[in-house]
Amino acid sequence: MTANRFWRLEAHPHGNDFSAAFALKNETIPSIEDGEVLIKVDYLSMDAGTRMWITPRTDGYQPPLPLQSKMVGLCLGRITLSRAEGFAPGDFVRCFGQWADYAVVTPATSGLTKLDEDIADLREHFGTLGMNAWTAYAGLVDVAKIQPGETVLVSAAAGATGSLACQIARNLGCRVIGIAGGPEKCRYLVEELGCDRAIDYKADDVEAELAKIEGGINAYFDNVGGPILDAVLPNMAHYGRIAICGLVATYDQEGPSIGPARFDQILMRRLTITGFFIPDFLDRCTSYLPKLRQWMEEGKLVVRFDETKGLEHTLDAYARMLSGRNIGKVIVDIR
Ligand SMILES: NC(=O)c1ccc[n+]([C@@H]2O[C@H](COP(=O)([O-])OP(=O)(O)OC[C@H]3O[C@@H](n4cnc5c(N)ncnc54)[C@H](OP(=O)(O)O)[C@@H]3O)[C@@H](O)[C@H]2O)c1
Repeated sequence: MTANRFWRLEAHPHGNDFSAAFALKNETIPSIEDGEVLIKVDYLSMDAGTRMWITPRTDGYQPPLPLQSKMVGLCLGRITLSRAEGFAPGDFVRCFGQWADYAVVTPATSGLTKLDEDIADLREHFGTLGMNAWTAYAGLVDVAKIQPGETVLVSAAAGATGSLACQIARNLGCRVIGIAGGPEKCRYLVEELGCDRAIDYKADDVEAELAKIEGGINAYFDNVGGPILDAVLPNMAHYGRIAICGLVATYDQEGPSIGPARFDQILMRRLTITGFFIPDFLDRCTSYLPKLRQWMEEGKLVVRFDETKGLEHTLDAYARMLSGRNIGKVIVDIR
């Protein structure tokens, strides 16, 4: 009898301590029904947006995950059994599966995708060719409509989505300013990712630093919301665009979120603010891939992987990412 370990949501977490919220359980490897596939998971992706699904809030973009469910998240792995048309044992795939040694999914509801194995590092399907890269590209190009020569600001800039957004904006000829927590991240942004400037929101007066930007900010790729958005609004250029990608500063807040304190600046500066959710863009994402792959091959788009080994250490990796102890993309290697 071979076992499958999986993480089960036991209670809604408070803050970034997940020890009481999840339990690592054992079962026999699940069987599959018609229309399903079984995947031996190799890597799990830690994504900040999933923090919202494990709260009781019902007004998010995804319904809350019921307590006592297996935790869900993006996985990379290989199909071991298939009863779904178009998928066969041996296929290397990405999907929304479970935090488990073995995931059971149906293609239509999990985004199950067969992947190209002709790349040096398969983890790039969570990196330069993955969901965070599509999100960065869609937010900058399709939502904020950035133009060469513009000033683009990115928050949570040293994280997975933010670090890709900084590089994509730079590759498209923009002047890029990143906001991140701590001097090591700020050095990374300027010295390794080619940002023109970095602002350490934990040490600097963000609003005062932003006020020094000549001409103001043309486009803001917002990953965090909260007080940083308040500091940005009065420093936007007239007719500036804000792509609201995420609100990680508020995901663990209990009760309804409070709107921006400087709401007036939307009128005063004639700003356009658009929230976007990458599943709405999936039909366009394949069209982003050739450009992303070209930049990856030219060394113009890189992802630093922050890797934890072992399914049993998943909660450490999750807390690392949500408390900002990561640089780059947080993944768990469970091979
Ligand atoms: N709209 C979409 O479809 C979509 C898709 C993917 C991701 N996202 C969003 O993109 C954002 C980044 O997600 P990710 O998965 O790539 O994670 P990530 O950026 O790799 O990690 C999260 C980062 O958030 C920052 N952070 C945490 N708490 C913060 C706070 N209170 N104030 C400011 N920064 C804080 C931390 O960096 P610091 O050390 O710099 O604080 C941390 O590194 C999230 O908001 C997520 O929901 C949205």
